Amino acid sequence: MNSVISVRHLSFSYPDGNRALKDVSFEIDADRCVAVIGSNGAGKSTLLLNLNGVLMPEGEVVLFGKTLTNKTVRELRRRIAIVFQNPDDQLFCSNIYEDIAFGPVNHGLKSAEVDKIVQETVKKLKLEGLENRNPFHLSYGEKKRVAIATVYSMNPDIYCFDEPTANLDPRGRREIAGLIREIGGTRIIVTHDLDLVKDVCSQVIVLDKGIKEAEGNVNEVLSDEKLLYKCGLL
Ligand SMILES: Nc1ncnc2c1ncn2[C@@H]1O[C@H](COP(=O)(O)OP(=O)(O)O)[C@@H](O)[C@H]1O
Ligand SMILES: [Mg+2]
Repeated sequence: MNSVISVRHLSFSYPDGNRALKDVSFEIDADRCVAVIGSNGAGKSTLLLNLNGVLMPEGEVVLFGKTLTNKTVRELRRRIAIVFQNPDDQLFCSNIYEDIAFGPVNHGLKSAEVDKIVQETVKKLKLEGLENRNPFHLSYGEKKRVAIATVYSMNPDIYCFDEPTANLDPRGRREIAGLIREIGGTRIIVTHDLDLVKDVCSQVIVLDKGIKEAEGNVNEVLSDEKLLYKCGLL
């Protein structure tokens, strides 16, 4: 098996004592697009924050064969990137060019290299003509694409998308689904949008109240109406 993420007995409690994840284990193979589905409060966002070490897990998260610890977190966090649910949490520069350039500049690349990466990213994410715009003046759908662009320009090995289609209209939804498919590689999508899961994912993990309730291939899990109903997804 070519597993790039191993999560073993992962639990997490917030400082107020709220136990958001309870003994969750799973494996994700390279180049798979995996959905983590669950209703509001199931622990989906908490799981992503534990995978890239923003929150430090109890139990074990192993990425590319290396256990996530205080020592490895800096190196590993460059390889696994989160596209946040709310694009306003991802965009903080005064124009889109700077937002996309931020990661490569931080990685210490020279300005000619940064410029090349930004141009490629703008093309890939279909953001031509928007480079000098202020991100706060964009439509919600455009903001979502720019948020993905700021992660794409860092060239991570694993993408995590937190509710990528929330608040989008049907066209925006189709565009984002298309981009997720096009980006390829290892992707984790946290969502309760079951149509998106059918469109882009092959494997599904079901979370409910911080517990992994089920795991399987997309047809198997999404046809289990009893399970989906129990977990607040139907
Ligand atoms: N900063 C926090 N402090 C305390 N509890 C939190 C915090 N963030 C989330 N939670 C709680 O953790 C649980 C899981 O939340 P979350 O991971 O955001 O769920 P989801 O993303 O599936 O909606 C919920 O009970 C939520 O109230
Ligand atoms: Mg969430």
